[in-house]
Amino acid sequence: MNRRDLIRSIAIGGATIILPPMVLTSCEKGSDPGGNNNGSGTDIKIDLSLPANAALLSAGGFLVTSDVIVINSAGTYLALSVTCTHSGCNVSYNASAGNLPCPCHGSVFSTAGAVLNGPATSPLSVYSVTKSGNILTIRK
Ligand code: FES
Repeated sequence: MNRRDLIRSIAIGGATIILPPMVLTSCEKGSDPGGNNNGSGTDIKIDLSLPANAALLSAGGFLVTSDVIVINSAGTYLALSVTCTHSGCNVSYNASAGNLPCPCHGSVFSTAGAVLNGPATSPLSVYSVTKSGNILTIRK
């Protein structure tokens, strides 16, 4: 094998290693069990008429889609990053306390994303939500 063949084989091997993450990313976006999609750009559309999204019809209900936790907070829809800023676990929603606890190390966030309890020190990202008919649009 000469130098050119060696470089060509490394380049081909590198492409093989790089391709699978791109393929996995594509599958991830299309595999939302709630039938939600990212629409154009980074908007997330949630059709409230679909049974998979029924949790959002009740006050205190929530669901997670595309790394976002969407909450029905007494009829107002909220959307925040589901990823805890401490070490990356998924937060949940505690409707009775009205906050977002992280099960891993005890951080708690407000529905405005602020840290209420550490060890997290950074807030959760908050996204705008608009509702038109049965469609929620979340702008990431
Ligand atoms: S990952 Fe959430 S508190 Fe540590």
